Amino acid sequence: MRILVTAGPTREPIDPVRFISNRSSGKMGYAVARAAAARGHAVRLVSGPVHLAAPAGVDLVRVETADEMLRAVANHLDWCQALVMAAAPADWRPAQPAGRKLKKAAAPTALPLARTPDILQSLLPRKGARTFVGFAAETGDPIPEARRKLRQKGLDLIVGNDVTQAGAGFESDTNQVVLIAADGREMPLPMMSKDAVGERIVRWLEERAAGAAGTVSPRLSGSRLRSG
Ligand code: PMT
Repeated sequence: MRILVTAGPTREPIDPVRFISNRSSGKMGYAVARAAAARGHAVRLVSGPVHLAAPAGVDLVRVETADEMLRAVANHLDWCQALVMAAAPADWRPAQPAGRKLKKAAAPTALPLARTPDILQSLLPRKGARTFVGFAAETGDPIPEARRKLRQKGLDLIVGNDVTQAGAGFESDTNQVVLIAADGREMPLPMMSKDAVGERIVRWLEERAAGAAGTVSPRLSGSRLRSG
């Protein structure tokens, strides 16, 4: 399969030396890319600024801002059969970034913000037969918001994580997630390494592809049905 993965945060400039960003380290997205490459898939990874080495066998595209991430994903979308958006693009950017470093003495007391593009939603009209996997980073029970984002963003699978939980979410080497498929099936996973979460997501993609080819019916092993 040809799999396009995104990882990491974006940086939205305030001026040439300052920016708005978030705590994403890129570990979750890099783990998905590594797992996919290890299982023999062709992988392209669009990465925001992180301190991680490019995974072996993966084509890496580096971006800085959410606009750049949208352009990169849009450029590679025709190539891929599955898109896994593990990145945490900033939702806002300074409305008018300064061209020169702002002087401390002239510091603005407020920073007008503008929305960044929603990458998944912008690309939904081009989805076609591709599989779209999103993540939902929530503070608290991720299931209700993950279900809402699954529908709103037209996804086939969403990976919900409670980023306030110790050992889960941003920066850690582990994560505790729940996979929710578009047919309503839900698979809560125990705390495990991000590498293991990445492998579960890739295996779900493989089973879905095999199901579409008529060889296996897609399943979420250990899943339970809930009326979403
Ligand atoms: O990078 P790590 O330190 O390993 O941390 C992992 C993680 C917490 C970043 C990861 O597990 C995760 O939850 N990624 C999604 C973060 C996020 O932006 O969540 P969200 O609920 O705000 O967005 C929902 C989905 O829309 C995500 O798939 C996101 O990539 C996508 N999105 C968000 C904003 C935007 N402007 N465009 C998007 O397409």
